[in-house]
Amino acid sequence: MDKVSVLKQKIKEAHLGGGAKRIESQHKKGKLTARERLQLLLDEGSFEEIGMLVTHRSRDFDMEKEVYLGDGVVTGYGTVNGRLVYVFSQDFTVFGGSLSETHAEKICKVMDLAMQNGAPLIGLNDSGGARIQEGVVSLGGYADIFHRNVKSSGVIPQISAIMGPCAGGAVYSPAITDFIMMVENTSYMFVTGPNVVKTVTHETVTSEELGGAQTHASKSGVTHFACANEVECIENIKRLISYMPQNCEEDAPVYPYEQGNEARPALNSLIPANPNQPYDIKDVIAEVTDEGSFLEVHKDWAENIVVGFARLGGRSIGIVANQPAYLAGVLDNNASRKGARFTRFCDAFNIPLLVLVDVPGFLPGTDQEWHGIIINGAKLLYALSEATVPKVTVITRKAYGGAYDVMNSKHIGADLNFAWPTAEIAVMGAKGATEIIFKKEISEAADQYSKMAEKEAEYVEKFANPYAAAARGFIDEVIMPEDTRMKLIKAYKMLENKVVTNPKRKHGNVPL
Ligand code: HXC
Repeated sequence: MDKVSVLKQKIKEAHLGGGAKRIESQHKKGKLTARERLQLLLDEGSFEEIGMLVTHRSRDFDMEKEVYLGDGVVTGYGTVNGRLVYVFSQDFTVFGGSLSETHAEKICKVMDLAMQNGAPLIGLNDSGGARIQEGVVSLGGYADIFHRNVKSSGVIPQISAIMGPCAGGAVYSPAITDFIMMVENTSYMFVTGPNVVKTVTHETVTSEELGGAQTHASKSGVTHFACANEVECIENIKRLISYMPQNCEEDAPVYPYEQGNEARPALNSLIPANPNQPYDIKDVIAEVTDEGSFLEVHKDWAENIVVGFARLGGRSIGIVANQPAYLAGVLDNNASRKGARFTRFCDAFNIPLLVLVDVPGFLPGTDQEWHGIIINGAKLLYALSEATVPKVTVITRKAYGGAYDVMNSKHIGADLNFAWPTAEIAVMGAKGATEIIFKKEISEAADQYSKMAEKEAEYVEKFANPYAAAARGFIDEVIMPEDTRMKLIKAYKMLENKVVTNPKRKHGNVPL
């Protein structure tokens, strides 16, 4: 064979991965191959492969007899909507996509390039974990990846798609990355699988229940997105990175936007007359942001807080919003963790924050206290306080107690604080407050019920409004709800050159 034909033959062989039979079996499971996934992800013709001819070095268990070009992972770079990204895509047809020494080296090489050149890293995971035949060498390979994940954190965006099994220590690389997507019914993440669980805890559980996409999207919050299929998953990755800059030194791309009529009159009648009646904060988000631009993150977990990306006048923003339609928008352990993590991502990558507030306070009770609401609530407080990106707050209704402080109050560094006329900013709700401060008066009254009502009305008149806070300058402006979008567009424009640096230090000690 001439030399050119030898190369052609090798490329053909590499493209076949573990062989036609295993590709067929992959397809039968409803899964695409590593290369098909990259084809969907990257702009046509943009993929440049690195390390196609790498092979494993293992000589135990007759491994020298089974060698595949590429060794179970396709790595390289390409573009998504014209923007450079680095990628690795594990090939389940080669030893179940398991991680060998050389497989790990290939991933590390693109991770190093991504860091060096300041572009996002996207990992498509489909792997049976450590290559069992290679033992500790494989474990070392994982740790090399983990270490790079940590070094890259906050420098370049890192996104993990789980498109097959992901077990053992292998789950920790995705866990360190910024966002995880899982595919329903074909992807799993767990530290130990159902068999080990059965042996250790005597629980009987399916893979799906233990670590499927729905489980992690709604129960644990490990995954940020659960996608119906692989195509949806890849489309979601593309959409997600459209809100992000290439690295922490840059700003997110700005989309074309022409100023039109920014008034949103529907917002004037959105808040129910009865303060205990819920409404959907996503209706506010939809009205305020550019049409169809909201991408919700962690949609099915801790639904009492809503977080996600959107565009406002073509620019990316990150939204953290209490959700009165779920548990009255109360802050609990999971909502605090969810809000904090999202806030820190936005701050790390120069994405301005919008905080929408309608919160009755922190959720009381033993369950919350014993699961650390003090520490978890502090995470959100810390994250919003620490953030140096433009920070704007709109209080739509309740802002009570410590939750008022935490939810991007002026005192923790918000740049602009708006309130709607329906805002109630106080230490606590009228009923609770009245029972405490007028206890004696009420108990001594002939008609306790009327006295209570009278005192409650007095409290509402005095405190359940935005004006005491506005008088102090804690609220910069009480605005008509319909003007919110226009006010926000102007606010972020005004803040676009904001430069604030935190004190010099190695790093803060966020209450993890
Ligand atoms: C080497 C592996 C492998 C592995 C699968 N294969 N996992 N080879 N090392 N870890 C190979 C199989 O031998 C098989 O080869 C092919 O991949 C497909 O595997 P199947 O079992 O036929 O596929 P399926 O039925 O779909 O099951 C997939 C699976 C299962 C659930 C992933 O293979 C499995 O449980 N694998 C072991 C998982 C595991 O325990 N890994 C170690 C976790 S501990 P052929 O030749 O037949 O195609 C860990 C430590 C990391 O990862 C620590 C980091 C700190």
